[in-house]
Amino acid sequence: MRLFALFAISSLVYAAPTVEKRAIPRPDPARAAEVKDVFQASWRGYYEHAFPHDSLRPISNTSADDRNGWSVTSVDSLSTAIIMGDAKIVNQILKYIPEIDFTTTKQANEGISVFESTIRYLGGLVSSYDLLKGPMKNLVSKPSEVDALLKQAQSLADSLSIAFNTTSGVPDGVVYLNPEPRISGADRNSIAGFGTLVLEWTRLSDLTGNITYAALAQKGQAYLLDPTGIPEPFPGLVGHEVGTEDGKFLDSNGGWGGGTDSFYEYLIKMYLYDPEAFAEYRDRWVLAADSTIEFLASHPTTRKDLTFLSGYSGNRTYSSSGHLASFAGGNFILGGILLKEEKYLKFGLELSESYYQTYHQTASGVGPEGFRWVASEKEPTQNSINGFPPEPQSDFYDKAGFWATSPGYVLRPETVESLYYAYRATGDRKYQDMAWEGFQSISKVCRVGSGFSGIQDVTKADGGSYNNFMTSFWLAETLKYLYLIFAPESEVQLQANGVNGFVYNTEAHPVRVRERLVRIGVQG
Ligand SMILES: *[C@@H]1O[C@H](CO)[C@@H](O)[C@H](O)[C@H]1NC(C)=O
Ligand SMILES: *[C@@H]1O[C@H](CO)[C@@H](O)[C@H](O)[C@H]1NC(C)=O
Ligand SMILES: *[C@@H]1O[C@H](CO)[C@@H](O)[C@H](O)[C@H]1NC(C)=O
Ligand SMILES: *[C@@H]1O[C@H](CO)[C@@H](O)[C@H](O)[C@H]1NC(C)=O
Repeated sequence: MRLFALFAISSLVYAAPTVEKRAIPRPDPARAAEVKDVFQASWRGYYEHAFPHDSLRPISNTSADDRNGWSVTSVDSLSTAIIMGDAKIVNQILKYIPEIDFTTTKQANEGISVFESTIRYLGGLVSSYDLLKGPMKNLVSKPSEVDALLKQAQSLADSLSIAFNTTSGVPDGVVYLNPEPRISGADRNSIAGFGTLVLEWTRLSDLTGNITYAALAQKGQAYLLDPTGIPEPFPGLVGHEVGTEDGKFLDSNGGWGGGTDSFYEYLIKMYLYDPEAFAEYRDRWVLAADSTIEFLASHPTTRKDLTFLSGYSGNRTYSSSGHLASFAGGNFILGGILLKEEKYLKFGLELSESYYQTYHQTASGVGPEGFRWVASEKEPTQNSINGFPPEPQSDFYDKAGFWATSPGYVLRPETVESLYYAYRATGDRKYQDMAWEGFQSISKVCRVGSGFSGIQDVTKADGGSYNNFMTSFWLAETLKYLYLIFAPESEVQLQANGVNGFVYNTEAHPVRVRERLVRIGVQG
């Protein structure tokens, strides 16, 4: 926390945050309203030019069916529209959802990602159901449309459930419904691919009373909690792919990036969902978190004040990270809060502030998809792949502590997501200001045509060129976390009055935590 010691001195009103003690978060209605405007403008562009297809191409004003044509932007936007209290958008979406046919795809032989369909569609449906049956029920004009959310969630899960029909029970990552239901037959799946289903499928069982959904997801997950095959290189930090035949690990490559990230995320989130039933998940998260602090925390040679997370191949680490991994700060903060452990809170804040620097330092003010640095650590964590920046990047590296290796930005949420956790955990306004800076940069360089688009080069002030694609997680996640960081206190906020009634899935859909059975008057 070296760099930020300066901030601490200049803002003495904030005592050092601890798990027990924090400043009360203060809403900022003007900023919240601006984020809401951007959400509404994004929705309008989509609704006018792309609905009910999956996604908007905002420059050509055309659409894409990139998630099986089940209107992913509609389903993914719903929980955000609910949280923002926009009844008009909520009812536009509710009206359409019963029309989606989750039993087939329009195109024959079109693969369906079990992971993406779970986090976006299933997560969006069960979350919206929880919100509209609970704290936000006043937004609904036709209650039967809320019941349809759960029916559709079930229809989707029934379609996807064939994925688990493998020898081991580790699900296939891809299924087909048209012309006949079948699985892809792949011999492996990634740990994020099947270790990020358990929250949504367990919630669906709890809501419907059909225990099969939870049983299927938890059976797959069991191979991750008790790993076999190629050994884990660090305690709790496992490999990337697992065989669908026998459930054994096939490699020992990993980190907190794509393909592995959300497996670790869900370990602690399941503990939040139900601390008694998922205590073993917590134990695995603690192992992984401690190993991450010990072996993966890395400080660039030119900016030792920053902490990034290395990847690894066996027990050799390499200093490369990316936008996806920047959610880790928030996940450590959540762990720190739930387990009342200062070291996780402190490490999570350190990561959140460091990954924010990948925005603050670039010409566009937006962080790159992938970046590298030279690790200042000595062996054994330093590795031969730890090369120096190419000459044109050298001056930038001296100042910034990283250089972009994949300079695009596709409207991803992870950096502002961690700043949201940092703000809620500390109440320190500097995190609101960091998120606001990121929001202003993104909304300036990505605004185009009828919506917002990914950009090709964050190292250029204008973002280079556009990819002409507005992904659904822009509305589901990025704008939701940005809104919540400025929004008033409510039941869906992290640590609302010290209580967590909801847990956010990896697509930022808040799911109600499992309610404890209160047996009034029944003893023993
Ligand atoms: C429960 O879910 C499973 C998995 O989709 C399905 O096969 C089964 O028919 C469901 N049971 C009931 C009673 O709906
Ligand atoms: C499960 O897989 C077996 C073996 O491949 C196959 O014979 C069976 O039809 C499948 N069952 C379902 C419900 O897909
Ligand atoms: C890394 O793994 C290799 C072989 O797998 C082993 O010989 C070596 O001692 C390990 N190094 C550390 C630092 O654990
Ligand atoms: C796309 O729609 C926006 C308004 O929604 C409009 O300003 C723009 O000119 C349109 N672009 C094309 C290529 O039609």
